[in-house]
Amino acid sequence: MATEQILIIGASSTIAQAIVAETLISKPEADIIVISRNIDIYDNTQSNALIKISIADYQPETIQQTITNLHKTTDLPTTQIYICNGLLHSEIITPEKRIEDFCSEAFLSIIEANTLTPILWLKALIPVLTTKNDCTLVVFSARVGSTEDNRLGGWYSYRASKSALNMMVKNLAVELSRRSKNTKVILFHPGTTDSPLSKPFQKNVPEGKLFKAKYVAQQLGKIIEEQPFDQKASFLDWQGKTIAW
Ligand SMILES: NC(=O)c1ccc[n+]([C@@H]2O[C@H](COP(=O)([O-])OP(=O)(O)OC[C@H]3O[C@@H](n4cnc5c(N)ncnc54)[C@H](OP(=O)(O)O)[C@@H]3O)[C@@H](O)[C@H]2O)c1
Repeated sequence: MATEQILIIGASSTIAQAIVAETLISKPEADIIVISRNIDIYDNTQSNALIKISIADYQPETIQQTITNLHKTTDLPTTQIYICNGLLHSEIITPEKRIEDFCSEAFLSIIEANTLTPILWLKALIPVLTTKNDCTLVVFSARVGSTEDNRLGGWYSYRASKSALNMMVKNLAVELSRRSKNTKVILFHPGTTDSPLSKPFQKNVPEGKLFKAKYVAQQLGKIIEEQPFDQKASFLDWQGKTIAW
């Protein structure tokens, strides 16, 4: 019988799948709720602890309805939330190398996936984030969202979308420090990880710096264990090192 639940949103992500695999082992007391537009990816994962929620899209009504329905079916304390959504490229979107590549439509798609979608989930999840139990919230960001760390330029839309995400999630942490003292907020940079998102950009990655999702998930597990509930947002990489905002 589960005593807590863990929520993984954008669960078809390669890194999310590794988090699910690790968490099924490390948290036998937890139900793992996975939410994705591509939930079939879990068809071969056999576990009574895994609760699969398929969604059609990331429209605001869908997100709100998904969380409302969830509240009707379970009242276990939520101890961890992972928001894994991220878009860097698609069949029609290539990250900008120079300003002339900038395209309004591509920018809006990237902002929608990387900034708007996570924030809509967080808005819907406020009742969960303001309960009395401890909860660690991990939102997947990227080092390229750091304004201070930007030395290479390029990738205008992706960088901006993750910077905006960082600002909004940090803002939420400020609000949560007043509304609830027991949520730890982590903006997480996994490092370059072998997944569809990084696939087109892997050839320039130095030897030993292209991580397997399993390694990243294990690192993140350790980082979560070590983080104090300090009512602050932390922007951390896979080593647990702080990244400048
Ligand atoms: N891989 C890397 O090298 C790397 C480096 C730095 C940061 N990150 C960040 O880490 C996170 C996970 O990355 P990953 O490599 O595991 O990615 P991935 O395997 O390519 O998975 C893509 C993820 O993004 C979601 N997604 C795709 N298109 C979307 C859209 N239009 N709107 C909303 N959500 C959309 C998917 O949700 P569904 O499950 O619903 O399909 C899935 O959660 C992302 O936030 C990414 O930016 C990754």
